[in-house]
Amino acid sequence: MSERLEDIARALVAPGKGILAADESTSTIKKRFDTINLASTEDSRRDYREMLFRSTDAMKNYVSGVILYDETIRQKAKDGTPLVDIMKAAGSIPGIKVDLGAKPLAGPTSKIETITEGLDGLRERFAEYYKLGARFAKWRGVITIADGLPSWNCVKANAHALARYAALAQEAGIVPIVEPEVLMDGPHSGHDIDECYRVTAWTLRTVFRELYDARVELEGIILKPNMIIAGQKSPKQASAAEVAEKTVKCLKETVPSAVPGIAFLSGGQSDEAATEHLSLMNASGPLPWPLTFSYGRALQAAAIQAWGGKPENVAAGQRAFTHRAKMNSLAALGKWSDKLEKAA
Ligand code: 13P
Repeated sequence: MSERLEDIARALVAPGKGILAADESTSTIKKRFDTINLASTEDSRRDYREMLFRSTDAMKNYVSGVILYDETIRQKAKDGTPLVDIMKAAGSIPGIKVDLGAKPLAGPTSKIETITEGLDGLRERFAEYYKLGARFAKWRGVITIADGLPSWNCVKANAHALARYAALAQEAGIVPIVEPEVLMDGPHSGHDIDECYRVTAWTLRTVFRELYDARVELEGIILKPNMIIAGQKSPKQASAAEVAEKTVKCLKETVPSAVPGIAFLSGGQSDEAATEHLSLMNASGPLPWPLTFSYGRALQAAAIQAWGGKPENVAAGQRAFTHRAKMNSLAALGKWSDKLEKAA
């Protein structure tokens, strides 16, 4: 493995920095824009993301890299500057989502379980994305907790796909973010924090076995897991302290220390919960790896609302985004507090 993969991975989890997941597919960003009654067009998507990437304070100081969608990595700002150049000028590394989405997994559980697609032709796509400036990538496998589920078939198939993707990424000189997400918004009321623990540990063990079989260099990946948290439908919600403690315990049991860093997804947690959980974990250190954020919704929800799709609100949107980025930067250092949150 070239030194470079390891260097990129370490830069992504540099102290006090984390990743902005801005790789919403066209259908997902439409859902976000629906909440502010904004039509999703190529231009409105560009304007929104340009607003984020031109938040210079956030991009310089708190955001190590941005996961982009295929459309965005090719897009130019209003003044003609490639969006990729804007983030690079701020010192932030461009990344790319390369999976083509979670599709029904054929078989008896196809109404609930999915397999992530996108391996065919991926070697050629990686070569193009590298030329477009991407130095890291993301692939998300989805695991759903339901009655008697996940099935072994689903866990194994998604772990295998993640490993094949990760090997292709490293071959192209691109750091793979390996994202096996155990959903927290599944249908099952019996999905308490211990069930999340059991399923996440099983999934992570399977993923690392597949990565090993595929000869993926662990020093050149970033793991992007869910936290250990009760499902949203569970009547038994856990405290922030329990989420932090069980997440760290589960990761220590399953993730080799050769992995340079772990960057969590927010997965539907509230903005502040995602920040608080991360901060508590880091404050409980020392830990075998840096723990940071790779949030989508928990970094962007406030910014979308403050912006509202209106040019006159760009500065307000940037302030909201910068505030969340700063709070999560503090959390990555274990230094966030409710007082700092409110003081801002
Ligand atoms: P959330 O933080 O909104 O879960 O998004 C992160 C992500 O990239 C999911 O794939």
